[in-house]
Amino acid sequence: MFNTVLLLSFLLLAVSGSSPRPEIQPRRCKCTSNDACWPSPAQWNELSRTLSHPVFDVLPIGYHCHEPHYNAALCAVVQENSANSIWRSDQPGAEQSDNWEFTAGSRCGITANRTTPCGQGRVPAVGVNATTELDVQRALRFAYERNLKVHVKNTGHDFLGRGLGPGSLMIWTHHFRYQRFDAQFRYATGQWANFPVVTVGPGLQWVDTYAFAAEHNVVVAGGIGPLGSVGSGGGWPLGGGHNILSSHLGLGADNVVEIDLVLPDGRLVTANPHINTDLFWAARGGGGPNFGIATRIVYQAHPITPLYASFFEALTNGTTAYIALLDLFHTSLPALADAGWCGYYPFQSPSYFALMYLLPNGNTTYGNATLGTFIHAASKIPGVYIRTDVTTTYPNYQSWFVANILDPVHVIGFNYTAGAAAGLGVETASWLLPRSLFTNKSSAHSMSEAIAAMPAGIGQHVGGGVVSSKSTDFNALHPTWRKTLVDISTAGEWTDAFNATAIQAVRQGITDQMAPFRALTPGNEGGQYLNEPDLLVPDYTRANWGTHYERLLEIKRMYDPTNQLLVVQGVGATDWDDEQICPIY
Ligand SMILES: Cc1cc2nc3c(=O)[nH]c(=O)nc-3n(C[C@H](O)[C@H](O)[C@H](O)COP(=O)(O)OP(=O)(O)OC[C@H]3O[C@@H](n4cnc5c(N)ncnc54)[C@H](O)[C@@H]3O)c2cc1C
Ligand SMILES: *[C@@H]1O[C@H](CO)[C@@H](O)[C@H](O)[C@H]1NC(C)=O
Ligand SMILES: *[C@@H]1O[C@H](CO)[C@@H](O)[C@H](O)[C@H]1NC(C)=O
Ligand SMILES: *[C@@H]1O[C@H](CO)[C@@H](O)[C@H](O)[C@H]1NC(C)=O
Ligand SMILES: *[C@@H]1O[C@H](CO)[C@@H](O)[C@H](O)[C@H]1NC(C)=O
Ligand SMILES: *[C@@H]1O[C@H](CO)[C@@H](O)[C@H](O)[C@H]1NC(C)=O
Ligand SMILES: *[C@@H]1O[C@H](CO)[C@@H](O)[C@H](O)[C@H]1NC(C)=O
Ligand SMILES: *[C@@H]1O[C@H](CO)[C@@H](O)[C@H](O)[C@H]1NC(C)=O
Ligand SMILES: *[C@@H]1O[C@H](CO)[C@@H](O)[C@H](O)[C@H]1NC(C)=O
Repeated sequence: MFNTVLLLSFLLLAVSGSSPRPEIQPRRCKCTSNDACWPSPAQWNELSRTLSHPVFDVLPIGYHCHEPHYNAALCAVVQENSANSIWRSDQPGAEQSDNWEFTAGSRCGITANRTTPCGQGRVPAVGVNATTELDVQRALRFAYERNLKVHVKNTGHDFLGRGLGPGSLMIWTHHFRYQRFDAQFRYATGQWANFPVVTVGPGLQWVDTYAFAAEHNVVVAGGIGPLGSVGSGGGWPLGGGHNILSSHLGLGADNVVEIDLVLPDGRLVTANPHINTDLFWAARGGGGPNFGIATRIVYQAHPITPLYASFFEALTNGTTAYIALLDLFHTSLPALADAGWCGYYPFQSPSYFALMYLLPNGNTTYGNATLGTFIHAASKIPGVYIRTDVTTTYPNYQSWFVANILDPVHVIGFNYTAGAAAGLGVETASWLLPRSLFTNKSSAHSMSEAIAAMPAGIGQHVGGGVVSSKSTDFNALHPTWRKTLVDISTAGEWTDAFNATAIQAVRQGITDQMAPFRALTPGNEGGQYLNEPDLLVPDYTRANWGTHYERLLEIKRMYDPTNQLLVVQGVGATDWDDEQICPIY
C-alpha cells in the first residue's frame, strides 16, 4: 500500500504541474443521467474494466418494498435494520437521515404502500465502489472528461446529505479501508516528525480506528456518533471534527499531518506542511469534498491518559430555576475549562440539564474542588433537584468509549444504544460560542435565555485548550474556532408523515433557535460548525469560514476550475442551483 516509488512519482507529478490545467470554461450545467450526454452502457462497461469493482446502479434502500420489485423478505430486512447506524452506512443508497434520499416529488419510503412506485429521489444513478487510489482517480477522471455531476459518499452521516445528488455518479469510499500505526512519523517528503501517527483510509469508522489506536497504546481524536459509526477519514476531519476530548487532543482538522487527495482532474497528490501547502491548508477545514477526494489521512496520535468522569443530571421546577442553573453553569464554564474539564451538556427545556464531563488525569480531590463547586452551588438554587451525581475513572479513552457508546449495560450516562439512532428525517443547526460570551454575565444570561427558548439541544464543550492554542490561520477552519469554548447544536426531526409545509416549519424553527446566538456574535465573531450545518443559515460562506472564505475560493479556482466537486454550502457553490447542477446567472 505504501510503495515509496509510486508515492514519489505522484509527488513529482504534483510538483511539476505537468498535467494540463483546463482554462476556466464558460459555466454550463453538469451532465446528469437525464441528459443525452450521460455515458452509454458500453462506456460505463469500459470504465468498469479499469476499476477493482464494476460500476453499479445505485438503488434506494426501499427498492424491494415497492412493485414491481416487491420482495417481502428483502423489504423486511430493510425495515428491521433501518434505524441501525452501521447497517445504513453499508448501504450505498442510504444516508443516516433518510430525508436526504428523497426529493419533494420522488421518494422510495420503506413503509409506504407497495403499490406506489419507488422514486429514485436524490439517490445517484451510478456508483463506483472505490477501494484503491486508482479507482478514485479513474472514476473522477472519467467524470471530469464528461462534465458529469459527481458526489462523494463515505458513511452518509452528512447533515446536508452531501454524499447524494439526483442523476449523479457516486464515488463511494466506504470500502476504502486500511489503517496503520507508526511510532515515529516520517512525512512522504522525507522529514521525520517527533510524534506517532495513525494512518487511515477514508472508509473506516471510528469504532474501528479507536480500537486500533488502543492496541498501539495511543489515542486519536475522532468522531463518535451511534456505535462509533462516523467515518475515520472522510467528512469528519475535512470539516473540522470534534470529539469529547478535543480541547485536550485538538480538532480532527488540527491533527491531520498529511493527506493524499485525488484532485478533480484525477491527479493524486500528497499535501503536508512541506508540499502542496495551499491544499494542505484548505483541505483541513474547507469541508469535504471541496478540494478533492481524500484517500489517505495521517493523524497525529497522543499518549493515553486515565479519564476522571462525571455524569450529572438536574431537574428544575420551571423556567426561573432552569435559567438560574444555566447562568451558574455558563459563568462557571471558563474556570471549569481552565481546570481541564470538557464534554457535553444536553438539555431539555425548561426542566432538564445534564453534564457528561471528562477530566483527563483527574482525581477526586481536584475534581470535587472544581466541578464539585458548581454542583454544590447548583444544589442551592431553589427549584433545582439533582437527580444524578456520579463520578468514575476510566483507565483510557477506549474504555470510556466502550462503556458509554457501545456497551448497553455498563453505561453510566445516556444509553446511546437505546432508541432509533438513524433512519429519520433529521436536520441540524449549530453555533460556535466564543469564551468571551461566558466571561460576561450579561451575555452569559442571554445564552441561558436562548437555551430556555429551545425545546432541546446539546452544548458541546469541545473548544478551548489546545484548540485555542493554534493560530487562526493554522488551517482553513473558521477563525472563530480558536476562541470557541462551546458548539451549541440542535436538531429538527420528522417522519414520513410530515408534508413539505410541516418540514419547512421544522427547518425554520431550528434556524430561528440559533438567532439569539448569532446576534451575540456580530460580524465574523461567531460561526456554525460546518459538519452540523443549518440548511437555512444566513450567509453560509461567512457562517462556515468567516474571513477564510476568500482564500478558500482562490484555492478552489486553482484546483477545481471547472467546479467538478460542488456540494450544498460548499466552497464555490454560492451561484449554483440547490443541487449544484446548473449555475444561476
Ligand atoms: C449521528 C451522528 C453523529 C455525529 N457525531 C459527530 C461527532 O461526534 N463529532 C463531529 O465532529 N461530527 C459528528 N457528526 C458529523 C460528522 O462529522 C459529519 O457528518 C461528517 O461529515 C461525516 O463524514 P463521513 O465521511 O462519515 O460521511 P459522509 O456523509 O459520507 O460524507 C460527509 C461529507 O464529506 C464528503 N466526503 C466523504 N468522503 C470523502 C472523501 N474520502 N474525501 C473527500 N470528501 C469526502 C462527502 O461528499 C460529504 O460532503 C455526526 C453526524 C451524525 C449523523
Ligand atoms: C395501497 O394502495 C392501493 C391502491 O391505491 C389500495 O387499494 C390499498 O388499499 C392500499 N393499501 C394500504 C395498506 O393502504
Ligand atoms: C464493494 O466492495 C466491497 C469490498 O470489496 C465489497 O465487500 C462490497 O460487496 C462491494 N459492494 C458493492 C455494492 O459493489
Ligand atoms: C489531583 O490532580 C491535581 C491536578 O492535576 C494534582 O495537582 C494533584 O496532585 C492530584 N492529586 C493526587 C492525589 O493525585
Ligand atoms: C466536595 O466539595 C464540597 C464543597 O464544594 C464539600 O462539601 C464536599 O465534602 C466535598 N466532597 C468530597 C468527597 O471531597
Ligand atoms: C420552584 O421551587 C422553589 C423552591 O421550592 C419555589 O420557591 C418556586 O416557587 C417553585 N417554582 C415553581 C414554578 O413551582
Ligand atoms: C440500553 O438500551 C438497550 C437497548 O434498548 C437495552 O438493551 C439496555 O438494557 C439498556 N441499558 C441500560 C443500562 O438501561
Ligand atoms: C457584555 O455583553 C454585553 C451584551 O450582552 C455588552 O453590551 C457589554 O459591553 C459586554 N461587556 C463587556 C465588558 O464586554
Ligand atoms: C401539512 O401538515 C400540516 C400539519 O399536519 C397540516 O396542518 C397542513 O394542512 C398540511 N398542509 C398541506 C398542504 O397538506
